[in-house]
Amino acid sequence: TRVLVLNGPNLGRLGVREPEVYGSATHADLAEAVGAWAAELGLDVEVRQTDDESVLVGWLHEAVDTRAHVALNPAAFTHYSYALRDAAAQVTHAGLVLVEVHLSNPYARESFRHVSVIGPIATGTVAGFGVLGYRLALEAVAARL
Ligand code: DQA
Repeated sequence: TRVLVLNGPNLGRLGVREPEVYGSATHADLAEAVGAWAAELGLDVEVRQTDDESVLVGWLHEAVDTRAHVALNPAAFTHYSYALRDAAAQVTHAGLVLVEVHLSNPYARESFRHVSVIGPIATGTVAGFGVLGYRLALEAVAARL
């Protein structure tokens, strides 16, 4: 079972960026932890990060075409990218699992973060548990199979 773990803009800055909000783990640490959890759960996982909206859209198309489930942290695109929402909707409409993941709890933060345009088309959302949220997302994928 393939799962694409897709991280959006500024998540490559993890560890340096607002560690009081996002924790001290770097993106490489995150990728390593996800790899270990995936092995435990018997999932074939690839972790990617981009700051580029069109690249993320392309990866979601790839998930549909190759029948991969998705754990997506859309970062700031969460709050306004209808292009990403439309791409993500194709994943769930194809019968694949798409888990929206946030390290922080956006509902406990600025009001512009209270809206997710991804949430309504996701299979489900995990937020507020830091890097552990990625493990919960993988468990959700594994449990649905
Ligand atoms: C985030 C929350 C978003 O509001 C923010 O723009 C991010 C990261 C999170 O993982 O908590 O970049 O998606």
